[in-house]
Amino acid sequence: MKKRILTGDRPTGQLHLGHYVGSLKNRVELQNKHEQFVMIADAQALTDNYDHPEKVRSNIMEVLLDYLAIGIDPSKSTIFIQSQVPQLFELTFYLLNMVTYNRLKHNPTVKAEMQQKGMEDTVTAGFMIYPVSQAADITLFSAELVPVGADQAPILEQTNEIVRRFNSVYHTDVLKEAQPLFSDCPRLVGPDGKAKMSKSLGNAITFSASFKEIEETVKKMYTDPEHLRVQDPGKIEGNVVFMYLDAFDPDKIRVQELKEHYQRGGLGDMTIKRHLMQVLEELIGPIRERRHQFKQQTSMVVDVLHEGTLNAKKEGARKLDEIKEAMKISYRLQNLTPFFSV
Ligand code: TRP
Repeated sequence: MKKRILTGDRPTGQLHLGHYVGSLKNRVELQNKHEQFVMIADAQALTDNYDHPEKVRSNIMEVLLDYLAIGIDPSKSTIFIQSQVPQLFELTFYLLNMVTYNRLKHNPTVKAEMQQKGMEDTVTAGFMIYPVSQAADITLFSAELVPVGADQAPILEQTNEIVRRFNSVYHTDVLKEAQPLFSDCPRLVGPDGKAKMSKSLGNAITFSASFKEIEETVKKMYTDPEHLRVQDPGKIEGNVVFMYLDAFDPDKIRVQELKEHYQRGGLGDMTIKRHLMQVLEELIGPIRERRHQFKQQTSMVVDVLHEGTLNAKKEGARKLDEIKEAMKISYRLQNLTPFFSV
């Protein structure tokens, strides 16, 4: 059965391998079986970059190029810009009534981000409520499946709470609950051994990374600090190179052999690193090349976004009518006449 999918990314920088294993790879497969909407979440990006609109604007194109290069196909997926679908913001305003202020303050994703960005005392109302706006993104498109990274789980939970509350308050089933779809590798550790790959941690491998950049990053990767001589047995646990091979080497049998060899001793760090460089180049090389080609075809790329956004607006307007109907606020002028004519 064909399902509706909605997902998206904040355009605050190029996407990277963390996004790839967390969700992008899934999307490329899902678009063949389902009806997929992919949203460039510029308005959400502004909630913590409102003073740098130019940063958000310029990254819309970067994210779009990443989407096209990794294989999100505009003939199968609708790619659109969030801020250009006004119904999203109208719905957000209604959904805000479905959640307490106290509940919003305790969303673990928002709390973690506030801490990470040092916002504890200066957090804006706009940032605090972005999970409600995300609930609008998901429900306006009646999404049943939402492929996202693991950090988004609390937001999906909150979305479904809002859906249940809305449907019960208005005695309707117009909003649909959505299921997050996590990949089998939901969080990619940073090449430097930090908790995750992330642009803000400065450890991201992007889709335009050159082979040289890949080499440099892999060379510095954290392995087993006690594996000093090639002939020594090495540890796999916590060894970033093997975590990356698990995530990216399509040949699982070969990875298993390398692991056994490493644990026995006799396999040097540089040998596994060279192998990983090759594996990453095989993945990124063709994406880098396609990205470069799309970059030369600006008007075609802009058309894709324009058409996708028109399509999303049409869908948004249709659904918002249904929602307002369910809320009994879709006044038509003739219905109001009795109130005016005494
Ligand atoms: N919060 C998501 C992120 O930071 C981006 C996003 C905005 C999103 N709206 C969405 C993801 C709706 C899924 C569905 O990655």
